[in-house]
Amino acid sequence: MELTNNKILITGGATGIGLGLTERFLKENNTVIICGRRSEVLKEVTDKHPSVITRVCDLAVEADRVALYEWIAAEHSDLTMLVNNAGVQNWMTVTDTDFFKRAKQELAINVEAPLHLISLFTNLPALRTVINVTSGLSFSPFAKVPVYSATKAFLRSFTMSLRHVLHSKGIEVIEMIPPALNTDLGGKGLHDAAPAVSGFVDSVFEQMKNGKTELTYGSSEDRLNASAEELRKHFKQMHQG
Ligand SMILES: NC(=O)c1ccc[n+]([C@@H]2O[C@H](COP(=O)([O-])OP(=O)(O)OC[C@H]3O[C@@H](n4cnc5c(N)ncnc54)[C@H](OP(=O)(O)O)[C@@H]3O)[C@@H](O)[C@H]2O)c1
Repeated sequence: MELTNNKILITGGATGIGLGLTERFLKENNTVIICGRRSEVLKEVTDKHPSVITRVCDLAVEADRVALYEWIAAEHSDLTMLVNNAGVQNWMTVTDTDFFKRAKQELAINVEAPLHLISLFTNLPALRTVINVTSGLSFSPFAKVPVYSATKAFLRSFTMSLRHVLHSKGIEVIEMIPPALNTDLGGKGLHDAAPAVSGFVDSVFEQMKNGKTELTYGSSEDRLNASAEELRKHFKQMHQG
């Protein structure tokens, strides 16, 4: 795939993994557009990188997704790449009183939004690449984030079908599969012990340059290649004690 001279929309591109991708794509000579709910966080990025184009939008809201697409189609119809990175991770259990409310929000952001954006953005004639950010938890769930894990399994499955279907349209579909990384996902502090985003970004760029379409790092490489028995063992180990 071509890693320079793209115009790229990165959802959730102002923080964590999205920010790592934003900064790396800028360095590789691309135009980057980012969106998120918090205008002040988007502004922090443009203060540091004035060339970044920003858009406030809540991807949980269908009308916001349509408005985002219509704005891109009108102002940036030369968009070549869509990166579905935005996501939330709710630590909860099915007996929590607000479980279903939070589950619906998580499904809207992690599943509905990428599906809807893909169905809209594949109408753009210049689009050549879709990148979906899934997770090592796509292979083996973590019970403290039960809906999150299931959304990532959904997105991985959908991404495989999408790759097959969009091939004939000349659109490449890439899955980024991060393991736990040090970001604010799920709340501040929960991922502090995990590896830094920078190593992940270096690795996935190297993999994309080498033409890989399922991009792994550390333990997500092990999960991708694990047998069913190894995944069952891993699930047990994660939930001991
Ligand atoms: N960190 C990890 O351990 C890890 C591991 C595997 C996969 N991932 C995946 O990597 C992706 C990025 O997560 P991260 O770790 O970088 O966490 P993060 O820093 O919390 O990033 C999430 C981003 O998504 C945006 N976002 C969330 N809800 C949104 C909404 N309704 N509308 C628009 N934007 C929204 C957030 O911006 P606003 O809050 O301003 O809207 C934020 O910029 C997620 O898909 C996550 O599942 C992360």
